[in-house]
Amino acid sequence: MPRKTENVGPRPPTVGVVGLGYMGLASAAAFARHGVSVTGYDVLPERRATVRSGSSPFHEEGLGELVRSEIQSGRLRVADTLAELADQSTIIFLCLPTPPLPTGRIDLRPIRAGAEELGRALARVNGFRLVVIKSTVVPGTAQTVNAPVVAKASGKGPAQVAVASNPEFLAEGRMVADALRPDRIVVGVSDPRSEQLLRSLYAAFDAPLIVVTPAGAEMTKYAANSFLALKISFANEVSRFSERVGVDIDDVVRGFGSDPRIGEQFLKAGPGFGGSCFSKDVRAFVRAAKDQGVRLRLSEQVVAANDEQTRHAAELIRGELPRGRGAKVAFLGLAFKEGTDDLRESRALPIVREIAGEGVAVRAHDPVALPKFRDWLSKEPAGLQARVSTWATTAEALTGADAAVLQAPWPEYLAWPKAWTARMRQPVIVDLRRAFPTARAHAAGIRLVRLGDGTSMRPAALSTPPTRSPGQNAPRSAGN
Ligand SMILES: NC(=O)c1ccc[n+]([C@@H]2O[C@H](COP(=O)([O-])OP(=O)(O)OC[C@H]3O[C@@H](n4cnc5c(N)ncnc54)[C@H](O)[C@@H]3O)[C@@H](O)[C@H]2O)c1
Repeated sequence: MPRKTENVGPRPPTVGVVGLGYMGLASAAAFARHGVSVTGYDVLPERRATVRSGSSPFHEEGLGELVRSEIQSGRLRVADTLAELADQSTIIFLCLPTPPLPTGRIDLRPIRAGAEELGRALARVNGFRLVVIKSTVVPGTAQTVNAPVVAKASGKGPAQVAVASNPEFLAEGRMVADALRPDRIVVGVSDPRSEQLLRSLYAAFDAPLIVVTPAGAEMTKYAANSFLALKISFANEVSRFSERVGVDIDDVVRGFGSDPRIGEQFLKAGPGFGGSCFSKDVRAFVRAAKDQGVRLRLSEQVVAANDEQTRHAAELIRGELPRGRGAKVAFLGLAFKEGTDDLRESRALPIVREIAGEGVAVRAHDPVALPKFRDWLSKEPAGLQARVSTWATTAEALTGADAAVLQAPWPEYLAWPKAWTARMRQPVIVDLRRAFPTARAHAAGIRLVRLGDGTSMRPAALSTPPTRSPGQNAPRSAGN
């Protein structure tokens, strides 16, 4: 049975979504659930076929079910050509990749090529079309790159084709909820008609609509991601200091985060941020500002601080392993967080590289990301490949391990049956996410070492910083 829509109101404009990747597919399915007629298109034929059959090509909580119900309802369709999509849609969203270049700038080739292909398709279409850049692009891109490309390829003027910006703020792992119920919608427009179209599209979404210029919208996205990355890195720095002097970072965050001017969200200590966006976006923000003669000193430090935190996480693991060769680690959770199979910028990758590079045998497990992890591993040097193995079950990964590293706290890891402890050579969990319940650790007879938790250290640590070498235990959490 087709599911009912989130909202019923006046007929919204029809929508096209070009690029059915993580962001595009979640957005397309959410528009459809809100009663919008959506046509999707992706350059990859297999991706089109998967979506058309009512499935998601990647793992994202609840997305497969949403896609299936919206395909069944007929509100979400997949076109085989851009011409078909352009014909059927009034508002066309470009949800194309903007990958990082070694310079830090984003690679504009995919979005430029997509705009050009779409422009050619628009040349044969009657009536007004609004092209909206939903990809994350540096301020000025929609107006100085996309608009001229679309105009030239379509041969149409502003009365027939306009270009606007509508950055996307959803987060992987909770994409469906974010896409269906965004906390705000930012649109950047340069004419009243585009504003009116986007207002009528988003009327079905119960979220404040912030209307600015296209460059203002593009800047907003970078400011948001850079600030979130800064917040995480700040918490991680305080966490490293806390660990050293015998303080639990969560106590500190509760205290300073409860100030409403600060807020507790995104102050959770961990192994550093990962994912496709934060690192890429902060670098692009810094680079784009530099290109305009502006230095963003704070943002410049964010990625370096993040890398330092990841090295610290590796150090914490190292501190739990026996000296010499032959150490084994079960690595639990490989994607950049739980709830997704996205490996892009996952902190698991540099940590695995570092500890396996030192001779440690890494036994890797993830409930959904193993295929992508194997693909990543196949491109690593042979020496590394020889030291990293992948296992279909957590129990197998734990066999003979000197420590289990919790990198992405999937619920199945947190449920830890006692039988898992018995499989390990040393019953230790290094919890990089501060997620493992202390009571469960007690019940399962396992020692918990939590990043950012130095509460078992004596106050003397304040005057004599502890030095740890491989084989010595890291600071333990209060309950151990
Ligand atoms: N992933 C996220 O959580 C997220 C959140 C907010 C913003 N963004 C931004 O959204 C953009 C897309 O990110 P993503 O994670 O969805 O990327 P992705 O790589 O998962 O998806 C991009 C899709 O575009 C398709 N594609 C490439 N060129 C094409 C073309 N010419 N025509 C049609 N399809 C084409 C690819 O096959 C792929 O399916 C990026 O700018 C990213 O920064 C992503």
